[in-house]
Amino acid sequence: MRKILKGAIDKTIAGLETAKKSLSGFADEETKLKRREMIDLDRTPEAPSIFVPSYGEIERLDDDMLIVNFMSKDQCDDLIAIADKHNGWEPLPGDKFPAYEIRMRELGFWEELVKHWERHIYPIIERYWWPMEMYGIRDAFVMKYSLETQRALACHTDASLVTGSVKLNDDYAGANLVFPRQGVSNEDVEVGKCILFPGQVSHGHECTKLRQGTKYSLTMWSSRHPGDIGGGYGTY
Ligand SMILES: [Fe+2]
Repeated sequence: MRKILKGAIDKTIAGLETAKKSLSGFADEETKLKRREMIDLDRTPEAPSIFVPSYGEIERLDDDMLIVNFMSKDQCDDLIAIADKHNGWEPLPGDKFPAYEIRMRELGFWEELVKHWERHIYPIIERYWWPMEMYGIRDAFVMKYSLETQRALACHTDASLVTGSVKLNDDYAGANLVFPRQGVSNEDVEVGKCILFPGQVSHGHECTKLRQGTKYSLTMWSSRHPGDIGGGYGTY
């Protein structure tokens, strides 16, 4: 019995290694198709995660803007509580658009987040924006807006190939994420859903002024080329 189990585990590890290799390199077409099959069929066991797979539920917010499942409402509440307990909300040194942020790396969620993107978000992105390829996640942080601290964020683009943005709560007024070029806002996007958009050129965005309450959101930036690592651990 143990031998059979060991064989199954070895097979799973080998499958994961193949998937990992093809995720990180310039795989041939056959390998890429195999990778998608492996990921889509969800054959490999996975430890419980704080992040929720999209299960094929993909909405279109606008041209080149997708909405996917990312976290449950309870998970969003937990992340807010963990971030507030951790405290130390501060802008990154030298940030042209300073905001009150805490890195997911500091909160201990970095590895899980990277794994979730590789397994569940890359296939969605790479299929929708084919033939572009993902190179990794370069930064992820929880942001906080409050009446006493930061209330808004000026229009800017991100140092990110494809950005993911998750609304963690909605018991506040104002502070909408607005894309002026597209005439789109996240006002009606549900808590826990993730908006995916090309962050660096076409989808400049801003946070309008907070009028009431406290707003929390999760922002995730992806690498623009191999080795593009940020979050204060590399260069912007
Ligand atoms: Fe941004």
